Amino acid sequence: MIEKSSLAVPKLIYFEEIDSTNAELLRTDRALVPELTAVVSASQTAGRGRLDRDWVSEPGASLALSLLLRPKASEQLGWITLMAALSVRAALQELGVVEPAIKWPNDVLVEGKKVSGILAQLDGEDLILGVGINLKAQAGAPEHATSLEELGIAADMDSVLHELLTQFRLRYLRFATDPDWSVELSANEFRQFSITLGQKVRAIYPDGSELVGMAKDIDSFGNLQIDAGELHTVSAADIIHLRN
Ligand code: BTN
Repeated sequence: MIEKSSLAVPKLIYFEEIDSTNAELLRTDRALVPELTAVVSASQTAGRGRLDRDWVSEPGASLALSLLLRPKASEQLGWITLMAALSVRAALQELGVVEPAIKWPNDVLVEGKKVSGILAQLDGEDLILGVGINLKAQAGAPEHATSLEELGIAADMDSVLHELLTQFRLRYLRFATDPDWSVELSANEFRQFSITLGQKVRAIYPDGSELVGMAKDIDSFGNLQIDAGELHTVSAADIIHLRN
């Protein structure tokens, strides 16, 4: 069922159903498995999203992937999640999706609707990188969600996963080999495909405080720079695009 994808990573563990692929990788004895081990499930009963939200993964309608990464330094984390979003975007384009775009930090949107989300969780020195992609419409999905099927793309899970793993490995290995060059390439890729930059945005910080301004650029850590009279550097926030 996932033959092609199994060849793209050193180890792939597949479930028809699990609570959450991130949770599964968090409770795995990770000393026994190599970096880039992938946990994949065709459905989740307790999928987690950013900011402690639920993530809907109904059977056969979504792809849930968690990858085990061992980044060398914590300041790399912002780039790794951004690279995951860039990889999803590139994979969707390869699969025929028209104009997939990135909303900072790491949502992938098509026609303004979310088709993929990313949740990175740090445990000691391990980074669990969780990626969800909506394959089909789901009854419990939020209104602002879309799926490959709704976008006219009939791709099976193995093809989507294989393309995603291929795209991510390319960026991650490049990052491990030459971080400065990789960051430059990824920053330019983000500038090209971001729908956040150049927009008036409201940033809602985890403590509930807010900032309104123009999203100007990303910095060398992948943080969003917002001009609200003076330049603010935002590392974690929910971003709402406002009308200019
Ligand atoms: C978000 O946009 O809020 C992030 C959603 C991340 C969902 C993925 S699906 C695979 C992995 N397992 C989880 O429980 N969550 C992530």
